[in-house]
Amino acid sequence: MKTAGGTRTADAAALVRPEIRAMRAYRLAQPQGAVRLHQNEAPDDWPEEVKRAIVERVLAAPWHRYPSARADAVCEAVGQMQQTPSSMIAATAGSNEALWAACSAFAARGTVVMSAPTYSMARTLAIASGARVVDSPLGDGFGLNPDVLLRAAHAQRAELIYLASPNNPTGNAFPSEAIRAVVEGSPGAVVLDEAYWEFASASHLDLVSRFSHVLVVRTFSKAMGGAGLRVGWITAQAALVAELHKVIPPYSLNVFAQIAIPVLVARREMAGARVQAIVSERGRVARALEALGMRVYPSETNFLLFSPGRPPAEVWQGLADRGVLVRDVSRVAGLEACLRVSIGSVADNGRFLAAIGSVVAEGR
Ligand SMILES: Cc1ncc(COP(=O)(O)O)c(C=O)c1O
Repeated sequence: MKTAGGTRTADAAALVRPEIRAMRAYRLAQPQGAVRLHQNEAPDDWPEEVKRAIVERVLAAPWHRYPSARADAVCEAVGQMQQTPSSMIAATAGSNEALWAACSAFAARGTVVMSAPTYSMARTLAIASGARVVDSPLGDGFGLNPDVLLRAAHAQRAELIYLASPNNPTGNAFPSEAIRAVVEGSPGAVVLDEAYWEFASASHLDLVSRFSHVLVVRTFSKAMGGAGLRVGWITAQAALVAELHKVIPPYSLNVFAQIAIPVLVARREMAGARVQAIVSERGRVARALEALGMRVYPSETNFLLFSPGRPPAEVWQGLADRGVLVRDVSRVAGLEACLRVSIGSVADNGRFLAAIGSVVAEGR
């Protein structure tokens, strides 16, 4: 690095940790007017009267003061919603921050073992926190073999196991016995990412009260329709939550999020109706894709992983040309033949099915 006349001229990016330089930054096209089925968002917004009630409260709140450092009202609301004491909840800026905090607290300068394929940001956040990531491949049909995962965790002396169930981007949930076996056999802590639990037949929040090394991570971004608010949370035993508060930055949730979340929680019956609609549409879209001769994987989420039976990148482009965005996951090992589509509104799903039918008919 040269310093000339008080100016540094060399490439400062070269000073960044090599493992960070080796990563690709997360970027996603978000063109206006497209049918957005690429981010697993909720298809419908909250009603205007709910949003207005929130905005009124935000107007009345002071903006020049820091809000609650730990978002106490959010923790209270989440605690009531899932019937756990608020001392067992740490609110975070999206569940992404929860994953980063868990990796930072347990595994910086250590190792995280994760089943693969899984949520790509989990890997990025673990590396950003300073951890080394070791993949443990899922088996046939993306099934979880606890022995395989535990063998890797013990061999690597992993401080943390990361497991998403239901898993993204595969869509399947792992059997409760398999998850429990991982928890019981893990040499370190276990993060169970339940971002999609509302769409699944089982949840595993109960493990938290029985195992002090389990952290369940959830989010307002999916079934709760609050992706724009950026709020997630960790549920763990109170002593562990107290430690996590040392790495989660204070005031991570801004005034708006801290006011909005308790209002949405009070109206959560609307999210219940949304989940029912999505699950029903999920079946309809899956059957329609199968009728086109495509392979659709079982899903307990708000999206479907499917193999279109022709090069995924071409199908992706054909859909994009018709104004429909899905996720091309074909660069992920094990998913070379696959695309992922979120379940949207009835109308958006119809546009997707019409577009993919036309891609098939016209060859691209
Ligand atoms: C498995 C999983 N975990 C966590 C997240 C992050 O969600 P957020 O940061 O919006 O809470 C996602 C988002 O797609 C996800 O799929």
